[in-house]
Amino acid sequence: MTPQPGEELQPTADPRADGHRGAEFVVVANRLPVDKEVQADGTVHWKRSPGGLVTALEPILRSRTGAWVGWSGIADSDDNPDIEGIDIHAVPLSTSEIAEYYEGFSNATLWPLYHDVIVKPEYHREWWNTYVEVNRRFAEETSKAAGHGAVVWVQDYQLQLVPKMLRMLRPDLRIGFFLHIPFPPVELFMQMPWRTEIIEGLLGADLIGFHLPGGAQNFLYLARRLAGQATSKGSVGVRSRFGVVQVGFRTVRVGAFPISIDSGELDAKARSKEIRARAAEIRAELGNPKTVLLGVDRLDYTKGIDVRLRALSELLAEKRIDPHETVMVQLATPSRERVDSYVKMRAEIEQLVGNINGSYSVVGQPVIQYLHRPVPRDELIAFFVAADVMLVTPLRDGMNLVAKEYVACRSDLGGALVLSEFTGAAAELKSAYQANPYDLDGVKDAIAAAVDQTPHEGRRRMRALRRQVLTHDVAKWAESFLGALSADAETTTSADRGVQLVAAPDQNA
Ligand code: ADP
Ligand code: G6P
Repeated sequence: MTPQPGEELQPTADPRADGHRGAEFVVVANRLPVDKEVQADGTVHWKRSPGGLVTALEPILRSRTGAWVGWSGIADSDDNPDIEGIDIHAVPLSTSEIAEYYEGFSNATLWPLYHDVIVKPEYHREWWNTYVEVNRRFAEETSKAAGHGAVVWVQDYQLQLVPKMLRMLRPDLRIGFFLHIPFPPVELFMQMPWRTEIIEGLLGADLIGFHLPGGAQNFLYLARRLAGQATSKGSVGVRSRFGVVQVGFRTVRVGAFPISIDSGELDAKARSKEIRARAAEIRAELGNPKTVLLGVDRLDYTKGIDVRLRALSELLAEKRIDPHETVMVQLATPSRERVDSYVKMRAEIEQLVGNINGSYSVVGQPVIQYLHRPVPRDELIAFFVAADVMLVTPLRDGMNLVAKEYVACRSDLGGALVLSEFTGAAAELKSAYQANPYDLDGVKDAIAAAVDQTPHEGRRRMRALRRQVLTHDVAKWAESFLGALSADAETTTSADRGVQLVAAPDQNA
């Protein structure tokens, strides 16, 4: 029998009853915001990981007695990492759970389905069962961590069943959910064998956030069609004009909240003498070429690393780019290395890099410098400062923070951003050199235009990009989501807008 999400979940006791206070604010994410470091003498040290989410939420976590529920990233580990000021609740995962819940259902089913089916999603009942089971454990752990009436913020596609499960356990909580990846159109979502369970899982939240209005609209349509709930009609705005799903007596709101970065911090760092010196040094180490092109990604097939390599290869073949004057640096963080599609894609990319270097490099001066490893943060910032053209060419990306990071690092108004139209960031970064990643000629033209831009044109574009990125940082993202989550549903939506609900289609008609 397939377990049903929510089956066997009983409301748990009010945490105040046994004197346990619990946290006022709880973040629930697949990963904990910590990295394990084992010293030479064997002692273990946990370091706060440098992610944007933890940076944005840290002040709230510290000021409000915060807790974070997540997985340490290590198999079969009973580690309970400790970081000052945040109550960490580790959810351990066994080797088979990692294979079925994380590598399987999360990253070989949901990830490709939600990213335009770039590779074929795999549907396996065992993976789904484990996804249900692991989501249940996350919900149970969250229920233990949260104090009475706490605000709980569940993150991303790995945990879409948690809102409903948690509501069954703890009806007193205020629950928000944010999806960090695209939410697909109905034609694709309908492939999912467990589509109704997923929509119902999300509807356990009080507020469901997406990056873009389009994702929110896709969700509203599916809530009507699959869960049979009445929803608002009319368009959803950015951080405004939320949609509404009426679930019995509960009003669930649906909104668009584009995520961002800690732009102020990056801007300040990139201006520092040390980073500027390192950027100059990097250019020298690359042989002081006229043009440095840069790609920075997790090694993922959604990122279109192959797209930019093919474009570069043709530009070199057509002599529109001179290999003696140009170096491309591709920094690629290893990612999900046991998932088949990632193994294949890595081989393909490394073959392309080899082909291009074989055809166009001279000894001691490769056209492409490819690093398959994460780069320390300050080094990465120096690369952003050193690069003339940043290549961001995903086939689909929920947001793409790299594009925003590059812009934040260019207080000198130098550099140019080539940006795929199919990233969430494209909606905000209109002054980038945008291209359709499926149109190779269009990508080539965008790269050539960025390489050849006049300094005046470059400054004009970068100034406009920076205005956007510096005024919309990750703190604003968190504030706008959490502000909407704690606001009274009636005052921010229906009452304000005179929302009209569209009835769900008659299931028997
Ligand atoms: P995703 O979340 O899909 O990986 P994003 O672009 O939204 O894509 O975020 C990626 C984050 O990881 C950014 O903060 C980026 O700076 C960082 N990152 C990506 N590649 C590297 C790398 N090779 N070394 C260090 N950091 C990296
Ligand atoms: C994307 C997802 C995150 C995920 C991250 C790294 O940004 O939206 O949820 O944590 O990639 O992927 P990983 O599988 O290593 O957690």
